[in-house]
Amino acid sequence: MLLLMLRVSFFLCFLLIKLSLCADKYSRDDFPPGFVFGASSSAYQVEGAADQDGRTPSILDTYAHAGNYDGATGDVACDQYHKYKEDVQLMVDTGLEAYRFSISWSRLIPNGRGPVNPKGVQYYNNLIDELITHGIEPHVTLHHSDLPQALDDEYGGWVSRKIVKDFTTYADACFKNFGDRVLHWTTMNEPNVFILGGYDVGFLPPQRCSAPFGVNCSRGNSSTEPYMAAHYTLLAHASAARLYKKMYQDKQHGYIGINVFAYWFVPLTKTIEDELATQRAMDFYFGWVLNPLVFGDYPDVMKKIVGSRIPVFTSLESRIVKGSFDFIGLNYYNILNIKDYSSTLKMETRDFMADSAIKISPLDNGTTTFEYPITPWGLQELLEYIKENYGNPPIYIHENGQRTRRNSSLEDWGRVKFLQGHIQSLLEAIRNGSNSRGYLTWSFLDSLELLDGYESSYGLYYVDLEDPDLKRQPKLSAHWYSHFLKRKNVINFDEVLTSISNGYDIQ
Ligand code: FCB
Repeated sequence: MLLLMLRVSFFLCFLLIKLSLCADKYSRDDFPPGFVFGASSSAYQVEGAADQDGRTPSILDTYAHAGNYDGATGDVACDQYHKYKEDVQLMVDTGLEAYRFSISWSRLIPNGRGPVNPKGVQYYNNLIDELITHGIEPHVTLHHSDLPQALDDEYGGWVSRKIVKDFTTYADACFKNFGDRVLHWTTMNEPNVFILGGYDVGFLPPQRCSAPFGVNCSRGNSSTEPYMAAHYTLLAHASAARLYKKMYQDKQHGYIGINVFAYWFVPLTKTIEDELATQRAMDFYFGWVLNPLVFGDYPDVMKKIVGSRIPVFTSLESRIVKGSFDFIGLNYYNILNIKDYSSTLKMETRDFMADSAIKISPLDNGTTTFEYPITPWGLQELLEYIKENYGNPPIYIHENGQRTRRNSSLEDWGRVKFLQGHIQSLLEAIRNGSNSRGYLTWSFLDSLELLDGYESSYGLYYVDLEDPDLKRQPKLSAHWYSHFLKRKNVINFDEVLTSISNGYDIQ
């Protein structure tokens, strides 16, 4: 009997070990046909050449030059403007299938409105051609936090309806000049973040906010402007998407979408209050952008709480916004805990954050390091939530990656683990029916980071800022990603070291 029990438990153990080892194994080929893997960037964060060939400042230039990054700026950044050929070669060496970059509006149309700058057209033509010649799909964003300063000066940028016309004209110039080769257009990068940061709390450009919610702003109104800015952003997106679908899509055969930043929110406690607060958080942060796109209006809870401060869609606007996308881009990094904070509802002066009546805290799992806690299941939950609540639209993961200190080791195990876990969760979500079409990690190179300049980095490649040539060096994560993309074979975290030490993939 004892022998039998020993045998059974030995067998169970063996099975469990097997299962746990197999659990994190997958290969490139497990993903559906047409699924693309790549990496992301944005214009101001990598291009440099900030005042060359006719480019004028964006609100990010102004913000950086005002000292918000302790003196760091994107004047040179990674100098991709001059080094795009070298960078595309690195992408080829890595095995990337797609590269996500953004067009600098004030490089293409200096001052935001008026004639198109031929030098700007030439640069993006060069970059796009270089990518395509090497078999890499360009995925292009039109606005990534870098509104032309001139439009902010003239009418306050996103808080004015005038932006809709100027943005549509700019989008038209992009479709006209590059649409024969670009098949994936994203109008806006994470409106929810640039609006919350720029018009409510005021820590991001254009630093508009009002007391007591935001600090150090000389202008703005945190109670109303975030809602106005989101409204005009959605209208600008919808107007550009309509133009693309009417005038270009039949000829160019491309797709147009919008990007949104998402956390996965988890109630801090199991109380009903925290559960409701978590749904409210989802509606205020995510539904704010996605509900108008999918259903033609803001979430009911927002309209109820915010009342007359949230703009009303006319029926024509609602019709234009609803369904104005072929895909949704998602930026997902981590999970946050949500606590009910309904007491703020009693406040007389309200703002965006206070309206949501929630309190946010980092995931309560004891980690407080510089790096994100690695919680890939949040991505899976998020994709499931979108599938269930928003009709399962096509999704591109536009950003996902690990934050490390800029000059930390090239052996970025934390990033390897992060990527490996999230790609696996994505695969699980797809197996469960999520309509995901691509994964682009943030970021290809160590870039100027929007939150802290050159203090943190997310790159697969380290960029040596001390070197006049800004040498790029692959980190372990670049080797890991390359191994995954090229060999197309199974990778298990514990096997990575062995396989990589048998020969790096990027020579
Ligand atoms: C996102 C931004 C991106 C990058 C990452 C870390 O919110 O879209 O540009 O800075 O954060």
